[in-house]
Amino acid sequence: MVSNSFKDKVVLISGGMGDIGQAMALEFGKMGAKIGISDIVDTTTAVVKLSPMDNLGVTYRYDQVDVSDGSAVERWIQNVEDHWGHVDIAIVNAATVTLKSLHEITAKEWEREIQVNLNGSFFMANAACRSFVKKAVTGNIVFLGSWAAHAAHINIPAYSVSKAALRMLCKTMALSYAEKGIRVNEIAPGYVNSGLSKEVWEKDPASGSEARNRVPVGKLIEADEVAKQALWLCDPSNRHTTGSTLLMDGGLSLLRAK
Ligand SMILES: NC(=O)c1ccc[n+]([C@@H]2O[C@H](COP(=O)([O-])OP(=O)(O)OC[C@H]3O[C@@H](n4cnc5c(N)ncnc54)[C@H](O)[C@@H]3O)[C@@H](O)[C@H]2O)c1
Repeated sequence: MVSNSFKDKVVLISGGMGDIGQAMALEFGKMGAKIGISDIVDTTTAVVKLSPMDNLGVTYRYDQVDVSDGSAVERWIQNVEDHWGHVDIAIVNAATVTLKSLHEITAKEWEREIQVNLNGSFFMANAACRSFVKKAVTGNIVFLGSWAAHAAHINIPAYSVSKAALRMLCKTMALSYAEKGIRVNEIAPGYVNSGLSKEVWEKDPASGSEARNRVPVGKLIEADEVAKQALWLCDPSNRHTTGSTLLMDGGLSLLRAK
């Protein structure tokens, strides 16, 4: 049970123009949190897409930030801290995926994916933790991992490697900051009806049905279901969960690899 303890909390969300990022912004926003959204999308485009937040009366700001640029990420977090006085929660969500085998993927594509998904996540989470310590905030980090970190995925090699490394970053960061009261966790979803997966399934509905049939519980995950798990992880009553992976894959990782 999530308590309504997010009123006036400041929540950072990277990749906030994507489906899961938008759902996070709405779920925390509906609870009265102030939302600092960033993405690579330009501000004019972002403002149009963020109109549901205005309709709900959510307090937010948008900054165009490429998470692969560590200095830009630090400036973003400093600007949000200056604007609202402190930061309480960081949802580390921005990621990219290249659908290519190891044989096909170029060195540039590999480097970019690791830079965004792993290094970009480190830049954001570590800058947020430094802000928590500076302001004596017992904050929360939530990484968006993936069930793809559990096993070899030959069509998304850089993605699954980046998410596997992210899991160890989560554990290392959780231990490093535990004594400050900062909790660091990961949500690892399975097939979410969002982002690139959604695009692929919309173009090829048969592949969507195939994906759904493969999931042991027989359902695709909706973006707001992922966001609700972040509310639970960050709830102040949840005092002991840190360094953990909240696996929500409908049993996918229990299957034998084909
Ligand atoms: N969709 C799924 O099935 C699924 C499954 C497991 C985990 N996830 C994870 O959930 C998170 C969100 O995924 P989604 O489905 O909402 O995807 P999405 O593509 O809708 O959202 C990703 C967002 O990240 C942004 N982004 C990409 N590169 C960036 C960069 N360099 N700097 C800043 N922003 C950047 C994109 O512009 C986009 O808005 C990701 O971390 C993803 O790996 C998704």
